[in-house]
Amino acid sequence: MKKNFIFMIAFTVAVFSLSCSYSPLLEPEVIIPDVISFSEQIEPIFKQCTGCHPNSGGLDLKAGNAYASLTASDKYINFEVPELSLIYTMPHPDGSHPKKYTAQEAALVLKWIEDGALNN
Ligand code: HEC
Repeated sequence: MKKNFIFMIAFTVAVFSLSCSYSPLLEPEVIIPDVISFSEQIEPIFKQCTGCHPNSGGLDLKAGNAYASLTASDKYINFEVPELSLIYTMPHPDGSHPKKYTAQEAALVLKWIEDGALNN
């Protein structure tokens, strides 16, 4: 009986320590530059979106039109709480949009908004 008890303790400790092992290799690496350029880093992300936008939701994400469309109403970019910006939340990797950003793309879009969503 005592042996069984000690075995159970050892087994539980082993299962817990194995299940909590963390593999950094599985985490995608996110690299955020100090300065973000809308035309060079943000607009190219939207290439994967133009098949459905402008047709969906009245949003035109084609190169040359995207900035004007995103700033035409205040629903896409939330300067007060950038994390609540629709252009960030809608295609977020954890969301259910038909097209989702990669972790890197989401981080770039958020940083761009935090930096003032410039047309640079
Ligand atoms: C397969 C089609 C499809 C693709 C690709 C797609 N979307 Fe959408 N998107 C939709 C549809 C449909 C809606 C409107 C329905 C809804 O609100 O979910 C929408 C709505 C949105 C909205 C909210 C529009 C509004 O005015 O409420 C945003 C922001 C958005 N999409 C961003 C993106 C971004 C950024 C990408 C590219 C990463 C993208 N979408 C790719 C189909 C798509």
